[in-house]
Amino acid sequence: MLKIQNLSKSFHNNYIGENKLFSNLNLKINKGDFVSIIGSNGTGKSTLLNIISGVIEETSGSILLQDKDITKMPEHKRTRIISRVFQNPALGTCPSMTVRENLSLALNKGKLTNLKYCLRYKTDYLRKLLEGISLDLKGMLDVEVKYLSGGQRQALSLIMASICEPKLLLLDEHTAALDPKTSKEVMKLTEKIVKEKNIITLMVTHNLKDAIEYGNRLIMLHKGEVILDLDEKKKKEITVEDILKKFEYAV
Ligand SMILES: Nc1ncnc2c1ncn2[C@@H]1O[C@H](COP(=O)(O)OP(=O)(O)O)[C@@H](O)[C@H]1O
Ligand SMILES: [Mg+2]
Repeated sequence: MLKIQNLSKSFHNNYIGENKLFSNLNLKINKGDFVSIIGSNGTGKSTLLNIISGVIEETSGSILLQDKDITKMPEHKRTRIISRVFQNPALGTCPSMTVRENLSLALNKGKLTNLKYCLRYKTDYLRKLLEGISLDLKGMLDVEVKYLSGGQRQALSLIMASICEPKLLLLDEHTAALDPKTSKEVMKLTEKIVKEKNIITLMVTHNLKDAIEYGNRLIMLHKGEVILDLDEKKKKEITVEDILKKFEYAV
């Protein structure tokens, strides 16, 4: 379970002064939950993920993951239990390294090894990790990641992010830069990984159709507050038009 307790965060800016983003936000995400998070630009979605992953420090409040208080745990330690995929694939992969090297690095995440030992995995084993992915990554083990398509890079980022069975997966608009067909393929892969590995997943998206279609819970953030929180049943009943109305009223 992921618990966000009494979370407050303010940024201080020389020009606009205090920017109060969260004020005593409370959120409980259950084991195995796949939550879509929607909300206007600048509403604090990425900041929330940054606080959870330790990139940004909260002003006050605490974060518990599987009953362990991780609020003071440094970012580099949290990466062992929390994985992220961003909109920009370059943030999740090393573009000048091959798919094989990237996968090997992900398999050794958090471990101190030399490069030779890190690259010890057999081709068959690595291919197996890429099996069943429609984006045809299997035959590209020795291709540098910078030559992959956007969809292939995001698929690889997802596999790398989930390979070491993290306790929490954070997806920040990870399909936003993809064409509709590729986006769908990456979403299907996301769903498969989350289901198979049973990882708590928070997915920020502006694609309202995806927000409704995938996952078992939908949360809408507005000005740092949860203004909509739908369980699986209610999520099935809501339409894109209903949500668009919520955006209009949320001022
Ligand atoms: N490191 C930072 N320093 C100052 N202000 C920030 C920082 N990160 C985010 N903000 C501000 O916090 C607000 C929310 O940003 P963000 O979390 O990126 O929104 P969203 O992801 O919902 O679009 C914005 O006003 C943004 O300018
Ligand atoms: Mg954002």
